Amino acid sequence: MTTTINPNKALWEKGDFTKLAECMRESGAELVSKLSIKPGMRILDLGGGDGTTALPAAKLGAEVLGIDIARNLVEAANRRAKEEGLKNFVTREGDACDLKDVADDSFDLVVSIFGAMFAPKPFDVAKEMVRVTRPGGRIVMGNWIPGDPTLVAQILKISSSYTPPPPEGFISPMLWGVESNVIERFGKAGIEKENISFKRETFTFRAPFPPSQFVERFRLYYGPTMNAFEAAEKNGKAEELKRELINLFNAQNKSGSPNTTSIPATYLQVSVKV
Ligand SMILES: C[S@@+](CC[C@H](N)C(=O)[O-])C[C@H]1O[C@@H](n2cnc3c(N)ncnc32)[C@H](O)[C@@H]1O
Repeated sequence: MTTTINPNKALWEKGDFTKLAECMRESGAELVSKLSIKPGMRILDLGGGDGTTALPAAKLGAEVLGIDIARNLVEAANRRAKEEGLKNFVTREGDACDLKDVADDSFDLVVSIFGAMFAPKPFDVAKEMVRVTRPGGRIVMGNWIPGDPTLVAQILKISSSYTPPPPEGFISPMLWGVESNVIERFGKAGIEKENISFKRETFTFRAPFPPSQFVERFRLYYGPTMNAFEAAEKNGKAEELKRELINLFNAQNKSGSPNTTSIPATYLQVSVKV
């Protein structure tokens, strides 16, 4: 029997995103606090990782389902929910491109913060998010912005200069950070342009250690950066890549101390009325 590897799943199971998510908790909770979540609200957190946004939403009393493609992150999310004694939050494996076991109109709110943007079929993702949101409900996405001068877009830009070009037909996840693409994708899913709004928000990565150590976490645990280092290694350029990233992280550090990290990054917050 041959098993086909899903590269999207393999990428996110490759590292251990929890090591980065630990540095994202405060901004995750802050973002959730602005979503007008009420007790009993039914929320889907798509590509929710280990629960950076799902846990705070559940703590506000919502009934939260997480769906994520990476088995290790699903396990981590469920472990965290159990540790916190949260019975109104569970995560399971699934693919944002095809939420096949989720009924139409199931949720009041679908949230996807730097999650669904990484699924390979954006038109299917938009269609599925709209399908599972009830009429009158809302979708909120957080998407990194291509070419933005802040951290994440710059990491991806630097990394891509050390990696071979992607396979033909590959659609950059960053296109979810371009308003015209978002309008086109939700438009095909039946949403009028007037029902889509955008704002630029800031997400801050915080760590009680220096930016260079934060780069190490990316190198060791973040699938896309791990791949960039593997490719750079083959060309004897791993040290160069590391240096570039350390310079970037140091330059963007706003903590006021070289021993701690606080790096703000701009993202596009998309809000869709269904
Ligand atoms: C950058 S992480 C963000 C995780 C989380 N939303 C957070 O803010 O910490 C991207 C997440 O999207 C998930 N993901 C990527 N492709 C996916 C897909 N096709 N379906 C569902 N989840 C996906 C990954 O497994 C990972 O948990």
